[in-house]
Amino acid sequence: GRVLLAYSGGLDTSCILAWLIEQGYEVYAFMADVGQEEDFEAARKKALAVGAKKFFLEDLKREFVNELIYPAVQANCIYENVYLLGTSLARPVIARGMIAVADKEGCDFVSHGCTGKGNDQVRFELAFYGLKPDIKVIAPWRLPVFYNRFAGRQALLDYASQNKIPVQQTAAKPWSTDENLFHISYEAGILEDPDTTPPVDMWKLTKSIEEAPTTPEKISIEFKAGLPVKVTLLAEQNKTITDPVDIFLTLNALGRKHGIGRIDIVENRFIGVKSRGCYESPGATILRVAHMDIEGLTLDRNVRALRDQFVTVEFSRILYNGHFFTPEREFVTSAIPASQRTVNGLVRLKLYKGNVVVEGRSSAEGLYDEHESSMDELGGFEPTDTTGFIQIESIRIKKWAQANMRKGQA
Ligand code: ARG
Ligand code: SIN
Repeated sequence: GRVLLAYSGGLDTSCILAWLIEQGYEVYAFMADVGQEEDFEAARKKALAVGAKKFFLEDLKREFVNELIYPAVQANCIYENVYLLGTSLARPVIARGMIAVADKEGCDFVSHGCTGKGNDQVRFELAFYGLKPDIKVIAPWRLPVFYNRFAGRQALLDYASQNKIPVQQTAAKPWSTDENLFHISYEAGILEDPDTTPPVDMWKLTKSIEEAPTTPEKISIEFKAGLPVKVTLLAEQNKTITDPVDIFLTLNALGRKHGIGRIDIVENRFIGVKSRGCYESPGATILRVAHMDIEGLTLDRNVRALRDQFVTVEFSRILYNGHFFTPEREFVTSAIPASQRTVNGLVRLKLYKGNVVVEGRSSAEGLYDEHESSMDELGGFEPTDTTGFIQIESIRIKKWAQANMRKGQA
């Protein structure tokens, strides 16, 4: 059979490539460009040298931003109150890119190098089945013939030298990473002890707070229907950026410079184990602060509450658990545009030593009325109106208090 392998260029997937050939498969290698820093040409040469019959590199950056990142920004997606879901967000576009190539090239099988304990195996495979139900998946790290043979890194290294797989001379970093336009993650290795502080040189996408400039930088972000449509850089003669991918890259560069968007957490994986992870999502952190702020000014209270409870919570869970190509995801995301119709306006921000400080916001939407909210003047209603409002609201509260008092006396 012919198998399309999600190839990373690293030791694991190179050994998997050679092993699949050894099992009699014809192997095509697949790589997605989702904005990670990577020598794709070196990876292509390596895959072909190890024995891949073809190599595919798909640039998925634009669909990643437009179809995954921006809906997640509009919905304020977040997992367990801290993780902005950078790895989860990239998986659907990578899986879809793979299935498209598998279809075109007549591959009956797809394969990946995810471990048997993680989230990514679930995300990839549920996405494959949601797109092509008859696809066959080879997950070597869940096959006893594979994991018994390659128990430990040394076994992989020995296999690599037998199979003329070039191994980089640079010592492997004592953790594993996953990088894309949105973020980088660090897990495993020395990070498995949750009380081990990451070494300062681990962090790759952001400067430390100590190294960040001591002068703040001011920018503004304009939103239309909850999407960032224009970023203005005050320090650069009000230079403006409007292309969706460029906006994200610009915010990443600003976040990097000012030390914004690092976290170090212990999270609950879908399969139920806890996992320690460190993440950097510079641009996404800036956008989140700005988007939530403009919603304060422009979004109806009850729409917001419903959205927070249902769309934000459910879409975040769907993304984390790999349920993207499902009917519930279609249902939940269909509510996002309706929630964002009034989310139009401008947020002014100050970036300073790890902080995203909101300095002001404006909008033509008109849900906020300075006169109505003012402490100093009467708006469209009389103070006496509120007396009745409080009286009615208090009916059941008084009843509850009276019942409590009776019980206290008994
Ligand atoms: N724990 C994060 C998540 O589940 C990051 C996973 C990183 N994946 C990887 N293959 N290194 O989204
Ligand atoms: C892996 O286990 O392959 C990476 C981590 C994860 O998927 O959660």
